[in-house]
Amino acid sequence: MVVAHTKLGLVMAVGDVNSESGPRWQEEELTSSGSSNLERELSSLKESEELFRLLVESSPVGAYLIQDFKFVYVNPTFAELFGYKPEEIVNRLGPLDLVHPDDRRKVEENVRKRLQGEAETVRYTARGVRKDGTVIVGEIFGQRATFRGRPAAVGSLVDLTEKLRLLESLKESEERYRSMFQSIKDAIVTVDADAQVVDWNKGAERLFGYAREEILGQPFIRLVSERYRGKLLAAFRRAAESGDVRLLEEFAEIEGVRRNGTEFAAEMSIACWKGREGLRFTGIIRDVTERKEAFARLERLLEEVVFAFSAAVETRDPYTARHQANVAALARAIAAEMGLPEKVVKGVYFGGLLHDVGKLSIPTEILSKPTPLTPTERALVEQHTLKGYEILKRVNFPWPVAEMALQHHERVDGSGYPRGLKGDEIILEARILAVADVVEAISHHRPYRPARGTTQALRELEEHRGVLYDPRVVDACLSLFREKGFRFETEAEV
Ligand SMILES: [Fe+2]
Repeated sequence: MVVAHTKLGLVMAVGDVNSESGPRWQEEELTSSGSSNLERELSSLKESEELFRLLVESSPVGAYLIQDFKFVYVNPTFAELFGYKPEEIVNRLGPLDLVHPDDRRKVEENVRKRLQGEAETVRYTARGVRKDGTVIVGEIFGQRATFRGRPAAVGSLVDLTEKLRLLESLKESEERYRSMFQSIKDAIVTVDADAQVVDWNKGAERLFGYAREEILGQPFIRLVSERYRGKLLAAFRRAAESGDVRLLEEFAEIEGVRRNGTEFAAEMSIACWKGREGLRFTGIIRDVTERKEAFARLERLLEEVVFAFSAAVETRDPYTARHQANVAALARAIAAEMGLPEKVVKGVYFGGLLHDVGKLSIPTEILSKPTPLTPTERALVEQHTLKGYEILKRVNFPWPVAEMALQHHERVDGSGYPRGLKGDEIILEARILAVADVVEAISHHRPYRPARGTTQALRELEEHRGVLYDPRVVDACLSLFREKGFRFETEAEV
């Protein structure tokens, strides 16, 4: 800043000395006669010349003076721009020697006009050729001048090569971005801080059915289903205020709405950036209907396979047929009644279907023995939890199915088996299965006793609520049977 200021000051001083009228103080000094005044004037002029030279020689802009189509003066920057030393140019080369052949005519014309007095000033760009043959682009600000009593062309040259190269690469990256933006299959939608659409690609046109001109300026939320609108808009406002795009992360899965009103499952990822006109949010939106359907089909297939396996296990023991299916259905209903996440609800269902697979290792005659078991036989039966765990731990379920099989005979007070776990040491899913298992078992016929019915089963639950069974699970189960009308599918047969 200081340097620039100083330079500006110097330029003004030089200008003052050379101006026709001249400043008042100068005139006064010149009119007072005497050789000392002349000396002072000469010294002042010399000083000005020095200052002028210093400025031009150190200028980052190229400067030149041409007479008779030859360079009479070039500053070091000018020479350097072309890869020469000043002395290699001055009185040796003319402007046309440094110009790209295709621009020669233009430069010649511009220099000629000034030398012949046809133009006072010129401003143009032209390509130059450096000593090593590389091409540069310069912008020339030229003026007509008189030097040593003869016409001259003076001017400055600013190197635009780097600037143009940058502009070129910016243009190229913009073109690359545009072509990706338009050719990508996903919808790319950019909105401003007011959640209004400001950019819209062909993918978005295909996905949502709106033409670009139809949707620009429209609120983004019309593209999502009714049940997401309020929440999304509120989160968006918070994100726009803070610039924190993470506030929108929970909307990674949403429902989109097409122009014709149909809804579809969508996946959305959002980035936030600062444009010239303020904050911008760009979302990439993808229709995941097919993927969701494929996933649902796979999940149904898994359920069918597990169900078939569960039923196959029970064919060895006709008295407990459908036991696992019943436990699974009740456990799922309890988990839902408790308001647990969808993942837990699904997990207890699969855990229920498989919790007794360890019984495969128990001889059928013990399983269907009509009289009470001996202590040895009981110990063998209790092994089914461990055996079940061994079988199921090899399957990579997204739920703790093996743990559920292992722990479904544990009791909250530590009186269960195989490990005598207490309270929270038993996973919630297993505490749910324990309740469902006992209710199902008491309600139905067993080899060693007739069915005692659900009333009796619920009484057992109430009696041991908080002792053997998790009280929250018991409450949910009681509410299901007494208030929500839950019934086992096989109850009618009992
Ligand atoms: Fe069991």
